[in-house]
Amino acid sequence: MGRTRALDLAMNPFDLTIRNGTIATAESTFKADIGVSEGKITAVATQLEAGSHDIDATDRLVLPGGIDSHCHVEQLSGSGVMTADDFYSATVSAAFGGTTTIIPFAAQHRGMALPQVVADYHACAGPKAVIDYGFHLIVSDPTETALTVDLPALIAQGYTSFKVYMTYDKLKLDDFQMLDVLDTASNHGALVMVHAENNDMIKWIAQRLLARGHGAPKFHAVSHDPLAESEATNRIIAMSRLIDTPVLIVHVSGIEAVNTIRAAQTLGARVYGETCPQYLFLTADDIDRPGLEGAMFCCSPPPRDEASQEAVWAGLANGTFQVFSSDHAPYRYDASGKLPKGDKTVFKDMANGVPGIELRLPLLFSEGVGKGRLTLNQFVALTATNHARMYGLDYRKGTIAVGQDADIAIWDPQRQTTITAADLHDNVGYTPYEGRTICGWPETVINRGRVVVADRKLQVERGSGMFLSRRTPGPLAQSRTPTPKKQLFKNLVAKGTR
Ligand code: URP
Ligand code: ZN
Ligand code: ZN
Repeated sequence: MGRTRALDLAMNPFDLTIRNGTIATAESTFKADIGVSEGKITAVATQLEAGSHDIDATDRLVLPGGIDSHCHVEQLSGSGVMTADDFYSATVSAAFGGTTTIIPFAAQHRGMALPQVVADYHACAGPKAVIDYGFHLIVSDPTETALTVDLPALIAQGYTSFKVYMTYDKLKLDDFQMLDVLDTASNHGALVMVHAENNDMIKWIAQRLLARGHGAPKFHAVSHDPLAESEATNRIIAMSRLIDTPVLIVHVSGIEAVNTIRAAQTLGARVYGETCPQYLFLTADDIDRPGLEGAMFCCSPPPRDEASQEAVWAGLANGTFQVFSSDHAPYRYDASGKLPKGDKTVFKDMANGVPGIELRLPLLFSEGVGKGRLTLNQFVALTATNHARMYGLDYRKGTIAVGQDADIAIWDPQRQTTITAADLHDNVGYTPYEGRTICGWPETVINRGRVVVADRKLQVERGSGMFLSRRTPGPLAQSRTPTPKKQLFKNLVAKGTR
């Protein structure tokens, strides 16, 4: 430690203090001050002396910065459409909404080598991100090299989760490939995230709709029938149980899928769930707008009905879902995204996805905590702590405690906001939540002790975010069988010799 730093410390131990606020973690809510030194939380105590920079959090909630573990940034979709947000606009938008870490995807398309994919995403993110980030992999081409060389090496380097698809012709794995990927994940300590929809059911319905001239956006929701989701959910759960490897089913939308996951969890299966704002705040009716406007609400799976919304709320409250993510998949309402064929565009041509990286936390806070559906501690768990635990970041992120990164969002729980796209910081040009009034907003957002957002302004430079190498995810670390693969084959052989 240099002499100047030692003198500073003797006079004032903290670079930053946040005082007089109410802190909430996933476990408890209490009044205390926070002291931060060199980007880490070094004190959580009452009546700390003011640091070099002191924030008065009287009447404010002091929460862990959000972690968004499902967002698509600077990513080509399966059909080759680039997202509207790059790593600058996406991370700025995330930060304004109280998120301090994102885990987007490094997406492999068929024929690509995974190490090169990861290098390409680093080259995009490094100079632009303003908050911290990790990467999940998307695995669409599980070749022998990918399974035996590249994935093990990348997992060891901190890419400890990957997403696989059961739908989209250009991304989907068949069941045999899926079992191989699950097996690799289990052997090397990675968590598999699954997009669970039955590809053939969707294609079969879509083909018939289009043949009869039903190309309007609302038919996107018809083709993605809830049974396509629940069938695939059931199938991947069976595969996960066969291999004795946890899976996390992402963007769960329909009541049947929620119930399928809940039932498996009740049986003791290590099946985890994620849901997103669009399944709480939108329904298929939103897609049924004049002309092509409904395209702005088209994502996969699609928003469903009120019964599904209620089931998703219940799943957040009763622990069926561990994580609440945005699935920010930003495409503009023009030829670059939603309308590649102008007014001739049919639902099959549209890029799938909705924006939500900035509104994820404010929407859930207002309608969940504010309306008594979730406790403040559940909100923290669902938006930050559980993401860190599920994805191997809890060694530094996800809660407010001594030794953690100082990733903090200071909320004004009373601030009323009427949502409008013009006030958001993404590059999409619309929001599916236009015109809603919500209560509560994160007004000061801090990442590793750096004030990223304050006074409604960005306070940091582009490229100041940091890449995060992740550890073995919690569900894998808590494996009930120490050598699941060995046990699996013992069990299979035992069955054969009975
Ligand atoms: O519609 C969606 N969710 N698009 C993004 C890609 C995905 O499947 O998550
Ligand atoms: Zn998906
Ligand atoms: Zn997604």
